[in-house]
Amino acid sequence: MEVISRVAELRDRIPARRSTSVGFVPTMGYLHRGHLRLMEIAKAQNDVVVASIFVNPTQFGANEDFSTYPRDMERDRSLLESAGVDWLFAPDSADMYREKSQTYVDVPGIGAVLEGGIRPVYFRGVATVVTKLLNIVQPDRAYFGEKDYQQVILVRRMVEDLFLPVEIVGVPTVRDEDGVALSSRNVYLSAEERAAARRLPQALQLARKLIHSREMNSKALEMALRTYIAEEPLAHIDVVAVRDADTLEETIELPRRALVLLFVRFGRAQLLDHAVVESERQSPATR
Ligand code: PAF
Repeated sequence: MEVISRVAELRDRIPARRSTSVGFVPTMGYLHRGHLRLMEIAKAQNDVVVASIFVNPTQFGANEDFSTYPRDMERDRSLLESAGVDWLFAPDSADMYREKSQTYVDVPGIGAVLEGGIRPVYFRGVATVVTKLLNIVQPDRAYFGEKDYQQVILVRRMVEDLFLPVEIVGVPTVRDEDGVALSSRNVYLSAEERAAARRLPQALQLARKLIHSREMNSKALEMALRTYIAEEPLAHIDVVAVRDADTLEETIELPRRALVLLFVRFGRAQLLDHAVVESERQSPATR
């Protein structure tokens, strides 16, 4: 595996017209099995796989964990090597955001709701860095974990709006044996917080049951899930939302494809989880 750290060097290596397909997996490093699954799928679907590791400063708010975000380049490098990744792109901030840089990409509808309502600069930073990375790497396909469901919807919208010539592939969440979704931020959890975090997959299980029983509308379901998660004293709820899974729109009636999105803090760890639950019929409008 070759490691490339300059934007210009990578651009020179990727010819605009080529017969080999390129799959791209953008990451912020501190890799786990969820990332390795993305690499595996990218490898199966493309001739060449490029991964990036860049902890993107513009997607962190002033009081967030940019400076302490977990980093371990040596470990990541050997994991990527074993996964058969061809090129690792690991640029620095000064190269990605040059001195005179002024341009941001914003997706103000999708980017302002749910997680975007709690983290105001987050999705603008994601949209900007993903656009830069896609322009540098020019992949045929780019792979994103569906754990960050809203991010996948936002990137798809942006790619369509800007006519970016890339296919976005979403890959299902990878979970630990206790059901907790894998995330680089799980490293922040103490043993008690880790046990408490099991409330999230359990809440999603409850949501599936309630949706299939078709007894509740979206708002009643949100209330029931909030109450269930709040019974865990270490959980600090930021978002519990039931939305249309394709548009993220809020509806009183349960949508046919309902997204249940949870954004909950346990100590220093802000954890995200979600489920998309399909139901045959609409629920009653009120209850
Ligand atoms: O999902 C992530 O790790 C990041 O948001 C991404 C897509 C690499 C952009 O920095």
